Amino acid sequence: METIVVSIGGSVIISEDADVSFFKKLVNLLNKLSSKYKIFIVVGGGKTARKYIELGRELGLSEETLDDLGIKITRINAKLLASIVETSNKKIPSTTSEANKINKTIVIMGGTIPGHSTDLVGAELAEKSGADRFIIATNVDGIYDKDPNKYDDAKQLREISIEKLIEKYGTGWNAAGSNVVIDGPALDVIDKIKIPTFVVNGKQLDQLEKAMTNQKFNGTRIII
Ligand code: UTP
Repeated sequence: METIVVSIGGSVIISEDADVSFFKKLVNLLNKLSSKYKIFIVVGGGKTARKYIELGRELGLSEETLDDLGIKITRINAKLLASIVETSNKKIPSTTSEANKINKTIVIMGGTIPGHSTDLVGAELAEKSGADRFIIATNVDGIYDKDPNKYDDAKQLREISIEKLIEKYGTGWNAAGSNVVIDGPALDVIDKIKIPTFVVNGKQLDQLEKAMTNQKFNGTRIII
């Protein structure tokens, strides 16, 4: 049985247009795929995490405390998803080693420790579980040549090498709440373990399914 790790942005599951029907469709997809694949889902914090982090930063809290606030929100989002996926764990693990030991076909978690985003958690889980694929499900159609939320003429990249990504974004962690497509520490692990990594729009469940099942999808393949 193949193992897939999906890092799903908080902005995908908790957004203005993510309603009950989106959740139901996502759960149906996970249930359907769980008969063929072992699936690990790492849920991000999205806008809610960023709100807490921005306010906390203005209040002068330390970066570590800001990360910790973000982690707590990712775990709340993970708890929400785990509560509606019948066959998943109900207790949210706080480390990837703990998650890797859970004997369920769908395992759901959020963040772990300060200093990175949930992308790194996904990459670390992919390493520990010996996963076949790592899917980054974000709120845009893959990786672009520049930020598509800021530039109308941003072009989607169908593929990009891990070397180019590291050259462009580095492997370091910027600051709590950093909104980058994939965080630097995660790029470092992807490069180290050479895991096939696909970036896809998680709101488009048909494309997410294609990426998860290794079919041609609309998004970006990272060449490792
Ligand atoms: P996210 O993984 O949600 O970051 O974690 P993000 O890049 O904003 O992702 P989207 O928008 O959900 O796609 C939110 C924040 O929580 C802290 C970091 O500060 C991060 O920016 N965090 C999260 C950690 O410190 N450690 C973790 O393991 C996870």
